[in-house]
Amino acid sequence: MQSRLQELKQAAMSRLGEISDTQQLQELRVKYLGKKGELTEILRGMGSLSAEERPVVGQLVNEVRGELEAAIAAKQTALNQAAVEAKLAAESLDVTLPGRPLPSGTMHPLSRIIEQAEDIFIGLGFEVAEGPEVELDHFNFEMLNLPKDHPARDMQDSFYITEEILLRTQTSPVQARTMLRKEGKTPVKIICPGKVYRRDDDDATHSHQFTQIEGLVVDRGIRMSDLKGTLLTFARQMFGEDQQIRLRPSFFPFTEPSVEVDIQCIFCGGDGCRTCKQTGWIEILGAGMVHPRVLEMGGYDPREVSGFAFGMGVERIAMLKYGIEDIRHFYTNDVRFLRQFNRV
Ligand code: PHE
Repeated sequence: MQSRLQELKQAAMSRLGEISDTQQLQELRVKYLGKKGELTEILRGMGSLSAEERPVVGQLVNEVRGELEAAIAAKQTALNQAAVEAKLAAESLDVTLPGRPLPSGTMHPLSRIIEQAEDIFIGLGFEVAEGPEVELDHFNFEMLNLPKDHPARDMQDSFYITEEILLRTQTSPVQARTMLRKEGKTPVKIICPGKVYRRDDDDATHSHQFTQIEGLVVDRGIRMSDLKGTLLTFARQMFGEDQQIRLRPSFFPFTEPSVEVDIQCIFCGGDGCRTCKQTGWIEILGAGMVHPRVLEMGGYDPREVSGFAFGMGVERIAMLKYGIEDIRHFYTNDVRFLRQFNRV
């Protein structure tokens, strides 16, 4: 019986040496130490032993059990350790490896101008409004005092989708939409940057799609001087503190009186050059006092409130500010052009 025990121990130990995972270890434990295991079997056979032999064999069985348990526990610890090490090795990360560079884009010059203009006007207490690019004739023209047969509709050759729906030719419909949204409340003080569309043949200065920033202020006692002061502040923050502006009489059906606004030529400082056609001035926007009819249609009483509006071309401002000579650069997406605008 003693030699059976020794054999059993040896067999178990050598099997233990071959084991490489917890599952096998578990099986081994059951095989030798389990309820129906080999060691238990030997214990059962002890009934046939003599009274002297029994304690000796009993002690030996306990020793062997103790050794086996210890060896199995040690093996379990070793297996756990190995598993952790394997996992660490598999998941190891060399933080000294050079990173993969992510190419970053640049901000489009038009977006930069819009952002700067928004900052300026928000600083003056304006809110930024929005309106649809696919617009109703009603808002693009009718609500701006341009009835169906009005000759000034020709000023803006339009892309019609149906009789009543078109791509907006200007951001001015947002004036009408904003007034209706405000339901007669004052003050109204918004700008609206956005895309506009006109049937133009594209060349260096014309584009079938371009960008405008509309402005609208409606409140009690708004005067032309408010318009002038607002635009002067804008011009100085956008083009430099010593900027001057000049207002020339003009015509828009939705403003009365209407003006065109020039800044001093930023290339010659007002002395006269080729860009400003020797005048010293460059036009940047159209503006005026909101026409009483437009206020009325927007739900305001022109005897109580007044307002001013303006609309500027973002491409034009970007071209002046960055010295861009062809409007087509803005939409042909040549990365060599775009990458020049990589600094804030
Ligand atoms: N909507 C006009 C245009 O596109 C510009 C403008 C806006 C003029 C607001 C006056 C007031 O030419």
